[in-house]
Amino acid sequence: MAQRTPIIAPSLLCADFAEIQHALDQIKSAGARWIHFDVMDGHFVPNLAFSPKAIQDIRPRTDLFLDVHLMTERPEQYIEALSSAGANCVTFHIEACIHAHGLAQRVRSLGCEVGVSLVPSTPVAAIAELLPKVDQVLLMSVNPGFDDEVFIRDSLARIAELAQRRNAGAGEYRIVVDGGVTRDIAGDVSMAGADVIVVGRAFFTAADKSAEIAALLER
Ligand code: DX5
Ligand code: ZN
Repeated sequence: MAQRTPIIAPSLLCADFAEIQHALDQIKSAGARWIHFDVMDGHFVPNLAFSPKAIQDIRPRTDLFLDVHLMTERPEQYIEALSSAGANCVTFHIEACIHAHGLAQRVRSLGCEVGVSLVPSTPVAAIAELLPKVDQVLLMSVNPGFDDEVFIRDSLARIAELAQRRNAGAGEYRIVVDGGVTRDIAGDVSMAGADVIVVGRAFFTAADKSAEIAALLER
């Protein structure tokens, strides 16, 4: 099968929060089509980040796809606010959710796409029943919470497993890879089957952001 070109989704967590408009302009002018938001509650991960209000305030300032990664306990508490805020896709963690099937249905009924996410220690098999019900699967390729972690190479086999399950008819989900991706590993990540690659530091520390995206997409 011909390889598709993955979407690069800059993670706003790595932007300068005092210069959010500038970061939005940088993302747009570099040619990225998605923006990745980490919503963190200080419980599921030991850090705090974007609230629904932040997403609501940013929504009118960009026409890009807002990809919201809910790194919280009790994800069901936030989905109404996030859909009203204008999120395009809301992804929750399977580890934080007992009634994941019902939650996925609820997110879709609110008019958003839905994703399910796995931390590196959760086997892909844990979401087998959900695969036909979601628009994307987000694989964490670092231990979640911060933007200074190193890519876990075992993630490549997990991406390939998700791609293989999709080829076998398990669902029509996108495969999103989040954490620690640099230009050195991005080719392997897309060859393994990623459709979306989230990049924080690699994007925001690059002097030439369009060139960085091109380098990330090189195989
Ligand atoms: C990790 C977050 C990522 C992070 C990516 O906990 O979910 O979205 O911001 O940043 P980098 O690419 O720098 O690891
Ligand atoms: Zn994320």
